[in-house]
Amino acid sequence: MGTQLEPYVAAVEAAMLDALQAPSPEVEPLYGAMRYHLGWADDHFRPVRAPRGKRVRPLFCLLSCQAVGGDWRAAVPLAAGLELVHNFSLIHDDIEDKSALRRHRPAVWAQWGVPQAINIGDAMFSLARLTVHWLAAQGTPAEIVLAALQRLEETSLALCRGQYLDMAFETQAEVSLARYLEMIDGKTAALLACAAETGALLGAGLAGPHASFRRFGRELGLAFQIVDDLLGIWGEPAITGKPTAADVRSRKKTLPILHALQVLGARGEGELARLMAQPALDEGDVAAAIRCIEAAGAREHAAAMAEQHTQQGLAALEQAVPPSPARRALRDLALRLVGRDR
Ligand code: IPE
Ligand code: IPE
Ligand code: MG
Ligand code: MG
Repeated sequence: MGTQLEPYVAAVEAAMLDALQAPSPEVEPLYGAMRYHLGWADDHFRPVRAPRGKRVRPLFCLLSCQAVGGDWRAAVPLAAGLELVHNFSLIHDDIEDKSALRRHRPAVWAQWGVPQAINIGDAMFSLARLTVHWLAAQGTPAEIVLAALQRLEETSLALCRGQYLDMAFETQAEVSLARYLEMIDGKTAALLACAAETGALLGAGLAGPHASFRRFGRELGLAFQIVDDLLGIWGEPAITGKPTAADVRSRKKTLPILHALQVLGARGEGELARLMAQPALDEGDVAAAIRCIEAAGAREHAAAMAEQHTQQGLAALEQAVPPSPARRALRDLALRLVGRDR
């Protein structure tokens, strides 16, 4: 994150922290666990400074608001709500993926068990929408608040559809590129699209260029998930804070894996397909699977697709609004995301 973005992140974090204060001592552990997940508390709910995530969605929202000529400060409750929706989805995603490590620390379910983690995620989802309602109290017209909330609800449902497909694909031998794109569109791109679109909606109203910002966010979201897929195989756990080769171990149909299955299948080489059909993979199996994926050229193929979606998103942004510092900051952020290592 560039230093010029620090005031944006600080404003969003202040709004999120406001939302995460327990109304009574009895429920402090519920709110404390939410602050733990967000990097503000340790496992005993004492204040700490732990890794907090890249804050991509709030930055997309605030910079999009500014790029259409709006005051980004007015969009802070919306940006905070978007980041809370994202983090609710991560709490549940780690349960769904049986992934015990998130941002270098035990995932919420690994710390407090699955039943509490489900409820902690649900509470964060409700707080997310309540935070967006603060817009009205701060002077945003009701029809804009309603439109933003409707987009957020539609997006949350799209996210669940994407997560459904992601889990269903684990046990499907073949997944087409079109179905993969549908899956990542839901689980990841929808929320980035919503962040850019609703930011533009707040900044320029219903007659403004919010549809182009939605396209920008969606393309960047597809690229973002493809880069996450690359990190899910070749990422360095010390940097990502997630388990090593987690996507191979859980037989996820990420882009490099499904592309390699297609290429190798066409060549009549079945080792990767055999490994992916096994109920569990040991260290040797994981290493063999990664060798197959690399031999198929799947790493380069996925990197090229991420680059292509990034360029399509940037073209939508550049057509939507004239050059400005906010448009430049969005472009810089987009380019940093495709080259990231965490
Ligand atoms: C991780 O999202 C899950 C995906 C949608 C790829 P991020 O990479 O934005 O996670 P944080 O918030 O920065 O940790
Ligand atoms: C990303 O899921 C999308 C959501 C969390 C909704 P992944 O399972 O691909 O993300 P990581 O790699 O665990 O962060
Ligand atoms: Mg996951
Ligand atoms: Mg997942």
